[in-house]
Amino acid sequence: MMTASRFEALVETLRSRHSTILQGGGEALVKRHRARGKIPVRDRVDLLLDAGSPFLELSPLAAHGLYGGELPSAGIVTGIGIVHDTPCIVIANDATVKGGSFFAETVRKHLRAQEIAEEHRLPCIYLVDCGGAFLPEQDRVFPDRDHFGGTFYNQCRMSAAGIPQISAVFGGCTAGGAYIPALSDESVMVRGTGRIHLGGPPIVKAAINEIVDGETLGGADMHATVSGVTDHVVDNETAAIGRLREIVLGFGTLRRVAQPPFTPMPPAGDPEELASLVPVDLKKPYDVRAVISRIVDGGELHEFKPAYGASLVTGFARIHGFPIGILANNGVLFSESSVKGAHFIELCDQRHIPLLFLQNITGFMVGTEAERAGIAKHSAKLVYAVSNARVPKYTVLIGGSYGAGNYGMCGRGFRPRFLFTWPNSRIATMSSDVAATVVTELRRQSLKGSGDEAAIAELDRRTREQFEEQSDPYYATARLWDDGIIEPAQTRDVLGLCLSLSADEPRDQSARPVYRM
Ligand code: COA
Repeated sequence: MMTASRFEALVETLRSRHSTILQGGGEALVKRHRARGKIPVRDRVDLLLDAGSPFLELSPLAAHGLYGGELPSAGIVTGIGIVHDTPCIVIANDATVKGGSFFAETVRKHLRAQEIAEEHRLPCIYLVDCGGAFLPEQDRVFPDRDHFGGTFYNQCRMSAAGIPQISAVFGGCTAGGAYIPALSDESVMVRGTGRIHLGGPPIVKAAINEIVDGETLGGADMHATVSGVTDHVVDNETAAIGRLREIVLGFGTLRRVAQPPFTPMPPAGDPEELASLVPVDLKKPYDVRAVISRIVDGGELHEFKPAYGASLVTGFARIHGFPIGILANNGVLFSESSVKGAHFIELCDQRHIPLLFLQNITGFMVGTEAERAGIAKHSAKLVYAVSNARVPKYTVLIGGSYGAGNYGMCGRGFRPRFLFTWPNSRIATMSSDVAATVVTELRRQSLKGSGDEAAIAELDRRTREQFEEQSDPYYATARLWDDGIIEPAQTRDVLGLCLSLSADEPRDQSARPVYRM
């Protein structure tokens, strides 16, 4: 009972944070936006997508708690939606948030959406309303490989690879903002509000002392009739979105949403029960099979090696009719559970079954006995198998994600196609308790017993505070370490959508041995 109410409070907090960001840059700026005949960014997305189809918004809480809370969703909405039955990536600037300009998290979010598009060969639709790089942050946005330039590189490479890149321009698009439509395969501009210029009027004045208004410099009619920068000009935003939908129809071959090979079945238990099943206190053990049965079709998990390495549950299941191999923590990872995991991954890889990692892991076992039994090499086998699996991998943090456990269970560094977290999750090298002990012990050793205990107590306090703050799921999602925090009850549907995106990919038929570990 206690568990339910504490977890439900976490879900409530998540919902309320999600509803806050829906207000964009705030009432006054949204009002100004509407008064200009412009549509709020999420309403544009709704109009673009097929009526009643789902939209999987990615990292809606990016930049949460950063910049004094002035950058909801990092000023950009990204996600996967359906246009004429075709799954597409949508990348849409929110002009009510600092003129849609790019901060470091905005760039990361844009790049991440493109990465998903490229991996799954999804067309990209850019709803552009963007003031380019946010100038006070230019050193964190402009010069490096994975900065703003990387987004244009991706756009060019995807276009060349036959992944359509199309855009509509709704507002003033300057500098980097101008390149999004300029590099698109096909673009639409809204008459009156849409502008494209490499340098806006203030830059032109500063650079060449020319005084010119924005419409003359980069208005829709000029670009449609004189420069040829845009391909279509329309009178309003609704028409622009309608034109984008027509362009999708014109792709020639439409890629439909993949149908599952098996008939989907509801899970055995109600997914809503997950919030009452999973303890918020990560130290409290529970059987992860109770989670799995509320996520997979019919609650059916065909377990692999159930009697061996029991702290890692492995088995075959289906989600929304798509086959999946699941690895789920049920305690600390020992040598046996590690090699069992590696063996299972190889089996799935050979059978072309995607992998799902349900992470709730404090790490691999430590201590003399474990080291003498070779935990370093056995855990390395798991990490090696995760790294080299050719099948799509998906990760959900349903509890702790600590230390090398994060690696063995396909953390972000191991390129899962998607990584989502639950609101009870924690991610760090170690827990705050352990970190405080390690750091204070190291200090004691370096002071060789001459330490001031008050200073050590202060170090303990600061370390705990740092680890508590930095392992919080909102800290993580603000920095784009994941694709978003989801409610446990949504996990099955979110994964079903993700699985459908990779289900029709060509399979790598080259030989791949399975080693019995
Ligand atoms: N860098 C820094 N701040 C920017 C910015 C940028 N590139 N683009 C917009 N902003 C800020 C504005 O200063 C303003 O900040 P404030 O609310 O703290 O005063 C806020 O974003 C909203 O901008 P505003 O001009 O009021 O919005 P708008 O809808 O009327 O116009 C733009 C939007 C993008 C057309 C306009 O802001 C603009 O031209 N920005 C400069 C673009 C530029 O020169 N970019 C070069 C980047 S290399």
